[in-house]
Order: sequence, then C-alpha cells, then structure tokens
Amino acid sequence: MHCSMITREIAHFAAWVITMRNDLIRIALSVLLLSAFLKAMSHPALPQTNRLHKPDAVYVGTPYDVISILLQMAHVQKDDVLYDLGCGDGRVLVLAAQKYGCRGVGYEIDPERVNASIENVIRNRVEKLVKIAQADIFTLDLSEATVVHLYLLPEMNIKLLPQLDKMKPGTRVICHNYNLQGIIADKTLTYLSYEDSSTHIMALYTIPLVRSIAE
Ligand SMILES: C[S@@+](CC[C@H](N)C(=O)[O-])C[C@H]1O[C@@H](n2cnc3c(N)ncnc32)[C@H](O)[C@@H]1O
Repeated sequence: MHCSMITREIAHFAAWVITMRNDLIRIALSVLLLSAFLKAMSHPALPQTNRLHKPDAVYVGTPYDVISILLQMAHVQKDDVLYDLGCGDGRVLVLAAQKYGCRGVGYEIDPERVNASIENVIRNRVEKLVKIAQADIFTLDLSEATVVHLYLLPEMNIKLLPQLDKMKPGTRVICHNYNLQGIIADKTLTYLSYEDSSTHIMALYTIPLVRSIAE
C-alpha cells in the first residue's frame, strides 16, 4: 500500500475512534444523568415519608391573625417548646419561631403536609428551632412540650385527653375552633379573622386539666 494511503487510513481510523469515544462519552453521560434523575425521583431532597393511615381530619390552615392571638393567649415565650399536633404546613410553628424564637415540634400524618411543613421551615430559615416528623398524634409522648396547639375535630381532642393528662403541670393547651369537651377552659375568645372573614373560637387550658362537674 502507498504510504499516503496508509496515512489516510490511519487518519480515518483515528477519526472513527474519536467519534466512537465521543459517542461512548455521550452515552455514558446520558446513562449517568438518567440514573441520577431516577435516583432523585425516588429519593427527593426531603426525607422520604410514608402514609401511616388516612388523616383523621382534613387539612385547613389556621389564619395567621388567629395564630398570633392563640400564641398570645398561651403567653408563648422564647424558652417554650410548642407542639402542633397535626401541623399541616407548619405555619403555627414557623410563626411562633419567628415571633418568639421558641422551639417547635410538628407532627403530621399526611406525607404531603409533612413535606410542605419541612419546605416552610427551610424557606423561613427556622430549621434550628422547628422540627417536623411524620407520626400519628395518638402514639406520641407529649412530656417535652410546654405548649400544645390543637386544631382538630372534637372527637380527636377527646381521644387525646389521656396523653394531655400525662403532660407536665403548667403546660398550656391552645385549641382552635374545637374545644376540649368536658374540660374547663382558663379562657375562651371569639374573633372575626380579617384573613378569611370567618369567626374563630379559641380556648386556653392548663395542665392539670379540670373536668367539669357534668362529666
Ligand atoms: C385542621 S388541620 C390543622 C393544621 C395546622 N395545625 C394549622 O392549624 O394550620 C389538621 C391536620 O391534622 C392532620 N392529621 C389528621 N389526623 C392526624 C393524625 N392521626 N396524626 C397526625 N396528623 C393528623 C391532618 O393531615 C391536617 O393537616
């Protein structure tokens, strides 16, 4: 074979190798990107949560002006530990951390709400103060709380009584719209919210809970 022909063949071969190498790199990159994408889909940045069972109440967020009043009613201070049982999007805890610098723990059963709460906490940069966990509120030890917020159905409040009774004396319980039936409140308040133009009922209780005589 003529020398120039050999050189041309080698050049063709080299070009083919380079093309093949580029193709292989492209394929490898695509595989890497695809696997990273699939991994991200199955392991989102937020912790994976599982549905424990269906929520016992639907999600409705407490309006912010109502939250402010509830926190004032309970005299929330910096050294309080506020629990929100069924924390929805975490708004009660986020506002309390922003306003008073207190710690908060939110328990929520619905995985979408758990993620919404975590996102809310991160967005508002209160992750050092507020922790969110997926849990069924009826399984919890509430002894670390100094204030508990409840915006739940009346029958859920009743079911929680044995857990509330075990809390430290002096712990405050603030209820939104549904009170603790059969328990004497320290204070109740009715308020027309400028946010949703609805009337909201709020009640404050202190541990130990005082049963009404009719019970
Ligand atoms: C009316 S919303 C209140 C949300 C929030 N606390 C607020 O005031 O903005 C009630 C929340 O309780 C949650 N929930 C219902 N049953 C629950 C259970 N057994 N354990 C934990 N969370 C529950 C619902 O998913 C819902 O987000």
